[in-house]
Amino acid sequence: MRQTKTLLVLLLLTVLQLSQLSAQGSDTTFGIFRQKEYYFSNSFKLNWFKAVEYCRTRGMFLLSVRNAEEREDIIKYLASTGYTKSHKGLMAWMSANDLGEEGEFHWASTGERVNYPNWSDTEPNDYRIDDCTGEDCAILEYWDEGGANYNYTFNDRSCMRDAQHIALSTMESKRLANLVAILVGFLAIGLISTQQDITIGIFREKSYYFGNTFKLNWYKASEYCRTRGMFLVAINNDEQLNGVVEYIEKSGFTKTHGILHMWTSGNDLGEEGQFFWGSTGERHTYDRWTKNEPNNEKHDNCTYENCLVLEYYQPWSINYTFDDRPCGAENFFMCETLYD
Ligand SMILES: *[C@@H]1O[C@H](CO)[C@@H](O)[C@H](O)[C@H]1NC(C)=O
Ligand SMILES: *[C@@H]1O[C@H](CO)[C@@H](O)[C@H](O)[C@H]1NC(C)=O
Ligand SMILES: *[C@@H]1O[C@H](CO)[C@@H](O)[C@H](O)[C@H]1NC(C)=O
Ligand SMILES: *[C@@H]1O[C@H](CO)[C@@H](O)[C@H](O)[C@H]1NC(C)=O
Repeated sequence: MRQTKTLLVLLLLTVLQLSQLSAQGSDTTFGIFRQKEYYFSNSFKLNWFKAVEYCRTRGMFLLSVRNAEEREDIIKYLASTGYTKSHKGLMAWMSANDLGEEGEFHWASTGERVNYPNWSDTEPNDYRIDDCTGEDCAILEYWDEGGANYNYTFNDRSCMRDAQHIALSTMESKRLANLVAILVGFLAIGLISTQQDITIGIFREKSYYFGNTFKLNWYKASEYCRTRGMFLVAINNDEQLNGVVEYIEKSGFTKTHGILHMWTSGNDLGEEGQFFWGSTGERHTYDRWTKNEPNNEKHDNCTYENCLVLEYYQPWSINYTFDDRPCGAENFFMCETLYD
């Protein structure tokens, strides 16, 4: 009931916000688009996973370039930073990736399929870096002398999935892309700043979506949550755990199922052994591991365990604790709302 109320208020605020935008005289897309803020980091480089987390700690997302207007705006923004005047080229991470399914690129920021495919010639090519690593994360690429083919176009690159590859292939890490962030969460942010009096309190309350009818791999689960404006859950203290467990118990799931492995946003994809919450970019500090976990277990030559489930298995007295699992494996999942 409380949740329905929250949803209704959210809907109402969304309508208010949209009508404000269209009242500004431009078409809606233009108005929304104009509300984006860009942040271009060119003083340090990160692998894709860390770049995603870094953006989240700022309440932002890695760049998405979903249409010609967005591309033009980004070109203007980058020109305004002066970067392209002083550099011959630019390689910047975008949120597009095909980690969830080879060849199927989605924007991690919104969960949408990439349907403005502004790829450079012969890209994406999933170039094999080694037996285990192809190219699954996309950059925006510009070269002074590259002509139309490297004119803010897309290229797939190695996400630098583990430290080993960074260390082993120095050439590749030199070519590591800069990162660009973009504010996509315009609704929540806009609402908080314009409707402050109404929203306080409402935004403190989380709502959850428990994906327990179909299973997805971690990447797809994360995208699925984004398509609903939500994130895979972050559970960094007792209070957050209790909220999640209460929701699971209320759903009746554990009455009919003796076992649950449920994806959270936790992962150590950016750096082995360093767990972060992908949704907030926070470090994982909640000490609630299943016995002998995380163990980064090897499944085959290329598959280790880098993504966190919350697990429940009564016969072994596993009572909602964390376990690292292969990110490509399919599990149930839980999304939550998050307002920065
Ligand atoms: C990229 O998009 C721009 C603007 O929509 C277009 O002019 C250009 O031809 C596209 N380039 C490629 C390689 O698709
Ligand atoms: C690169 O794209 C910009 C913006 O769309 C366009 O103005 C420019 O002519 C393009 N340059 C080349 C070499 O295609
Ligand atoms: C896994 O790696 C080992 C040692 O490098 C090699 O002997 C074996 O053939 C590999 N297995 C597969 C399935 O690639
Ligand atoms: C399992 O964990 C939940 C959440 O912390 C707690 O409420 C419950 O009492 C625990 N159950 C057992 C049997 O330890």
